[in-house]
Amino acid sequence: MEQTFTVKLEEKRYLPDPRCKATAWTPDYTRAYQEFMRDPEAFWDRIARELSWFESWDRVREWNPPYARWFVNAKLNITANCLDRHAAGSRKDKPAIVWRGEDGAERVITYDGLHHEVMRFANGLKSLGVGKGDRVCIYMPLVPEQIVAMLACARIGAVHSVVFGGFGPDALAMRINDAEAKVLVIADVGYRRGKTVPLRELASEALAHTPSVERVVVLRRETPAVELDPGTEVDYADLVARAAPDCPAEVMDSEDPLFILYTSGSTGAPKGIVHTCGGYMVGTYYTARHDFDIKETDILWCTADPGWITGHSYIVYGPLAVGTTVVIAEGTPDYPDPGAYWRLVQDLGVTIFYTAPTAIRMFMRYGDEWPAKYDLSTLRILGSVGEPLNPEAFEWYYRTIGGGRCPIVDTWWQTETGMHMITTMVGEPMKPGFAGKPIPGAVMDVVDRRGFPVPPGTGGFLVIREPWPAMLRTVHGNDERYRAYWKTIPGCYTAGDLAVKDEDGYIMVLGRADDLIVVAGHNIGTAEVESALVSHDAVAEAAVIGKPDPLKGHVIKAFVTLRVGVSPGDGLTDDLARHVRKSLGPVAVPAEIEFMDRLPKTRSGKIMRRVLKARELGMDPGDISTLEE
Ligand code: WTA
Repeated sequence: MEQTFTVKLEEKRYLPDPRCKATAWTPDYTRAYQEFMRDPEAFWDRIARELSWFESWDRVREWNPPYARWFVNAKLNITANCLDRHAAGSRKDKPAIVWRGEDGAERVITYDGLHHEVMRFANGLKSLGVGKGDRVCIYMPLVPEQIVAMLACARIGAVHSVVFGGFGPDALAMRINDAEAKVLVIADVGYRRGKTVPLRELASEALAHTPSVERVVVLRRETPAVELDPGTEVDYADLVARAAPDCPAEVMDSEDPLFILYTSGSTGAPKGIVHTCGGYMVGTYYTARHDFDIKETDILWCTADPGWITGHSYIVYGPLAVGTTVVIAEGTPDYPDPGAYWRLVQDLGVTIFYTAPTAIRMFMRYGDEWPAKYDLSTLRILGSVGEPLNPEAFEWYYRTIGGGRCPIVDTWWQTETGMHMITTMVGEPMKPGFAGKPIPGAVMDVVDRRGFPVPPGTGGFLVIREPWPAMLRTVHGNDERYRAYWKTIPGCYTAGDLAVKDEDGYIMVLGRADDLIVVAGHNIGTAEVESALVSHDAVAEAAVIGKPDPLKGHVIKAFVTLRVGVSPGDGLTDDLARHVRKSLGPVAVPAEIEFMDRLPKTRSGKIMRRVLKARELGMDPGDISTLEE
């Protein structure tokens, strides 16, 4: 963004029922924020003391920009908080996970049951030679075992790297290799729209290029059970059955890594974002409890997959640290019919529902008759994440799903932040189009390139000014890329989003400022899609942009030049789409592919996506003085 720009801000407010405010965990946002600002360390110290630790900290935080340490020298295990603490107390028989399959099958796992399953699988991993610090890659559908595998790693101090089951073999191989994972945990298949997703087949393509993987644990779901390769594969059920029942929680330092999760970079390969044990636990526990206002009887359904950060923080670690019941459902929102989600809300009595704007817009299209068929009166809090919640979608969500009585918490955050950073806390006035204000615990601003705050109504860069407990600590194997987050704008963490503030300090997030495309709430890097396209024999060069889409927020549009002698004949578009799907998975497939004679470039040879984008959207391309003839 070269020039400043102004945004016309609509002033519409919704006042929640005052009873929400009276009973909220944060009943007075302004006071809580002031308290936090007066003494941030005391604020976090108080929250951290609500959890159990093997040893306390010497200092709450140590800040040597851009490196932070939180709960310095404290010892803990996050699973002791997510499992043992509850299983040993009054939540022993409380459901921790309620799973629904696409065919309606249901499984309920109590805190006690989950505790035992995790300990057994943890011992199983140990028997395969996995120890503290080793990396384990998890490539599974949304089944309880996916969560068990994550927690089992955490139990023994192994570092998990979950790869979303919608990714293809190349994306999987790249992530396994970058993390040098020793063990891969998979399922034979996932189920989606009544069909099977052949995860084991996809994984075996990846495994041809992943020398670090010694063993593959396979959860077998199909009948008859697939035959395993005795040399490399181990049956999940066998491993658990043979394992010893007790597995003490490994003593972890606060700053030991808990997991790596890959997110798209604006250039080059995806980045392995590293999160650590202590700060991440405190940050996700606090935000889950306060932002969703979780009470003992709540039933939380976060519709994300644990393959994304939303699932890590708000299906697994945050809610389980709080001790709530989480609902997970395999499959898609509109299968077998567009009432699938609402039926589940009714059947299970879901009280807190957290989803993405792209899903909300899809439901809007199907019409009000689908939610109208079901009793949604148990819903109490509605959440949104992943991309801007546009005012039309807000209104629909608020009225049709929330019956005008549920506060909407539109949460802004990132894989890198690990936890929510902006929202409208339960009980505060809501403004459609605005995510809200920085939560107590986050110091944020909208600034110009030099780091100076821009006036209300003027667009700028969204930044974080102070370290926060669940912040990323590094990019795996590439600390330079970590430091880059803190370099763009002096003294700040630059989120890469454009935003605007209003007079009351509410923040409206406008979208990415860089080459990341948020498609249906999933972050896709232009670089990855471009290199997948270029790996096709017919393609010489490719440039990819995000194009606004009423349903998905953005879709991918690719501009492609072909090799000499190749013409864009019949079926090439489909073939290219198939090629990208095979390599990266369905999430990264371009919605449109346009063939060009040449791509606009700078004189130094860099493709100017900005020019393509401006042309596509009929906008002014801005400064094109560097464009080659
Ligand atoms: C976008 C997902 C507007 C944003 C948790 C951010 C949002 C990127 C919101 C991170 C929101 C996330 N309003 N935009 N409430 N939440 N984003 O790493 O562009 O998958 O930088 O984390 O999603 O995506 P990520």
